[in-house]
Amino acid sequence: MNLLVVGGGGREHALIKKLKENPEVETIYALPGNGGIAADAVCMPEIGTKDISGIVSFAKTHDIDFAVVAPDDPLALGCVDRLHEAGIPCFGPDAKAARIESSKVFSKGLMKKYGIPTADYQVFEAPEAALSYLRSAKYPIVIKADGLALGKGVLIPQSFAEAEAAIKAIMEDKVFGESGAQVVVEEFLTGPEVSVLAFTDGTAIRPMVSSMDHKRAGDGDTGLNTGGMGTIAPNPYYTRDIAAVCMDTIFLPTLAAMCAEGCPFKGCLYFGLMLTPDGPKVIEYNCRFGDPETQVVLPLLKTDLLTIMRSVENETLDTLDVEWHDGVAACVILASGGYPEHYEKGKTIFIPSNLPEDVTVYHAGDKLQGQSLVTSGGRVLGVTAAAPTLKAALNRAYAAADSIYFEGAFMRHDIGQRALRGEEQ
Ligand code: AMP
Ligand code: GLY
Repeated sequence: MNLLVVGGGGREHALIKKLKENPEVETIYALPGNGGIAADAVCMPEIGTKDISGIVSFAKTHDIDFAVVAPDDPLALGCVDRLHEAGIPCFGPDAKAARIESSKVFSKGLMKKYGIPTADYQVFEAPEAALSYLRSAKYPIVIKADGLALGKGVLIPQSFAEAEAAIKAIMEDKVFGESGAQVVVEEFLTGPEVSVLAFTDGTAIRPMVSSMDHKRAGDGDTGLNTGGMGTIAPNPYYTRDIAAVCMDTIFLPTLAAMCAEGCPFKGCLYFGLMLTPDGPKVIEYNCRFGDPETQVVLPLLKTDLLTIMRSVENETLDTLDVEWHDGVAACVILASGGYPEHYEKGKTIFIPSNLPEDVTVYHAGDKLQGQSLVTSGGRVLGVTAAAPTLKAALNRAYAAADSIYFEGAFMRHDIGQRALRGEEQ
């Protein structure tokens, strides 16, 4: 079988490594892929993830048996719709279902209509109306741009002055582009955050092991929001009891709501949850695998990934048991100095050839320059280790991350520390 994976980050590297475990798989094409992915797949750097026509015509001419569309942009742009029109089976939601991530106004409206627990909110289309509401609001408060913003479209002002600046930045200066034409202003929630990725074929659902992201750039959750600086799985705050509550009050109602709205969701649905004193609530939905959650979740998957993805496409997921390995995985991101703001590219990457077997380096932002790997993005590598305990997984991931070098590299030093405290509770 020939597979096509759309995307070129650490998440796609993890998907590709897992898909390769299926003995039926012959060639995997990554569009565009990256320097490190080139060791595991045939990369097409000239075909970008928003080039839907380019992706579809590549698929048609390369005898593709199954395609996986991983990033949000091509999903929102209808890549899966177009591949299906071309007769190519694939994994991922169509554009209508992808709105669950690409429009916060849509997802908040869905939760309100179907009684799915989430933060109370208001939607504003004009800065004046937003400001008049914010003048008498309780702080901190949360302001979100409506559309896709690389996980960075959320601001948490502590005062009206900060809120005013946030509204100006999003709605007038359009720092997140057209994503900021509408804003959602919502209640500030507190509690541990949990990411739950789930396979779903529209009606059946198989949640994956839970995980915990670390979104801020600096230790102790300081600094700017990033796409994610590290992850651990499973998340110790997400107990069996909480999982059962989430299934009844969030997961199944969400699938039913999407069906009732005429846009059943097929693919990987990502629930960003906060375990508040009033119970679990949805912070956000993503219409795709998380990055870097995938880098810790997939190493723990026992069942063949391609088999699961095909059963999602064929809507037979209810007949499949999805099994997981015991143990814990931890991923530490090595990022370019300056990320998530300005950073330099083109730094040569040195990775020791003798890393331990239980360590995997997922490549996120690099490219090949001759025989060398050089940096080409903000998040460069995701160093992942699996072990029987969280402590051991963290020790191994950090030992490996410390042995990798490129100029300006930085990482957070406290990935998993909150989870270790959670384990003690
Ligand atoms: P999002 O991109 O929606 O996941 O938001 C990014 C981060 O902002 C989340 O991971 C939370 O840490 C924080 N956040 C978003 N919404 C809220 C909320 N209603 N209350 C508190 N924190 C929030
Ligand atoms: N790590 C968060 C995300 O993928 O959106």
